[in-house]
Amino acid sequence: MNRHEFASLLDRVIKERMLKKITLSKSALPGVARIQIRPFEKGGSAMVQLSKFQEDNKVIHENLPADGAGEEIISLFMDFFKQCNIVTAAGNCEAKCNKKGSLYVKNQIDFSRQETAAASSHDKQKRHFLPPNQPVAFLQELGISGTDGRVYDRMAHKLAQINRFLELIDDVKDSLPENRPVRIFDLCCGKSYLTFAVHHYFTQILHRQVEMVGVDLKEDVIEHCSRTAEKLGLAGLTFQCGDILQFEPDSKPDMVLSLHACDTATDIVLNTAVRLGTGIILSSPCCHHELAQQLQSEELHLITDYGILQQKLCEISTDALRAQALKISGYQVQLIEFIDPENTPKNLLIRAVKNRGKMDEAKKNKLVNEYQCLCEMLNVNPTLKRLLNI
Ligand SMILES: C[S@@+](CC[C@H](N)C(=O)[O-])C[C@H]1O[C@@H](n2cnc3c(N)ncnc32)[C@H](O)[C@@H]1O
Repeated sequence: MNRHEFASLLDRVIKERMLKKITLSKSALPGVARIQIRPFEKGGSAMVQLSKFQEDNKVIHENLPADGAGEEIISLFMDFFKQCNIVTAAGNCEAKCNKKGSLYVKNQIDFSRQETAAASSHDKQKRHFLPPNQPVAFLQELGISGTDGRVYDRMAHKLAQINRFLELIDDVKDSLPENRPVRIFDLCCGKSYLTFAVHHYFTQILHRQVEMVGVDLKEDVIEHCSRTAEKLGLAGLTFQCGDILQFEPDSKPDMVLSLHACDTATDIVLNTAVRLGTGIILSSPCCHHELAQQLQSEELHLITDYGILQQKLCEISTDALRAQALKISGYQVQLIEFIDPENTPKNLLIRAVKNRGKMDEAKKNKLVNEYQCLCEMLNVNPTLKRLLNI
């Protein structure tokens, strides 16, 4: 396949709305590690979004009209990248480009397949993996909905949180191993609404096998969750009672989840996930009390003189330091608005994906130095700092 034929193929994939994702990798573009391209719709027009993943972990987004985007993408690929992977609703295509500009294409796209990839709406159209008012056994069993599937008003906010969590897992599911059951831990699982929902998502929606463990300190809650999983015959879902600080599983998890682990319990979750070498971490912190006892900063007294601002500073400093601690531990980190603040004020989510290669020592030292400088400036010594020995 020559350049012209490859460009036509790409144009057709975009025009017929079959595109799911393009990844340009093995980069020679200064400062840019890779580019991901996804389709979306804005005001009824088909667009594509280029996400440029910078070497300093920042991501720069650029939107282009879908019409003519194929040629732009091909130019970027052939000028600066060695590899281009196209994922479509009708199969995949892999292209490689060598230094002399020769193109090798392995095309497995079959346009006769009818499925059309739904372009994700830029207006944040929500994917409800658990649509409200559809009967699902575990939702009924956990008291989120009645037998007719109607969600109880008092539980609607919990269902919204769970649906959003599933969306955020869905975004990273392609990084999970494909040739064996996915190993997932929900640490500080409490009543385990999330644990059951994630099990449902993997087994019933993705049709994958899981080995999933929920862990919590509360004996009665864990007993109830174990009985419920058994009653519903949920394969691969177990619960353990215990302190996550001492949690020693038999095998390394692919993903660690945690929803609203209280105060420093989130630090223990993150430390446990790092200690076990987890590939993906998704954690929405809860209350932030620890730094409120410690934070003092003469330099920042214009903020700390006001109780309400001091509290907000404690919260954002705690999570900024957590994010940096994960970067130091070799993860790409995003801090995402988890959910509408009207649903819960605990609306931040830390999403961390482990880097493949080993981090350069100089880069690590720089991250550590930045971390320690902020701790000194705020006069704080967070639990995660002590646990990770930073
Ligand atoms: C606010 S609840 C959240 C429960 C659940 N994830 C949810 O969102 O519904 C926090 C849970 O963390 C558990 N927890 C706190 N510290 C823990 C620890 N060190 N080890 C295990 N569980 C812990 C508590 O028992 C409690 O069930």
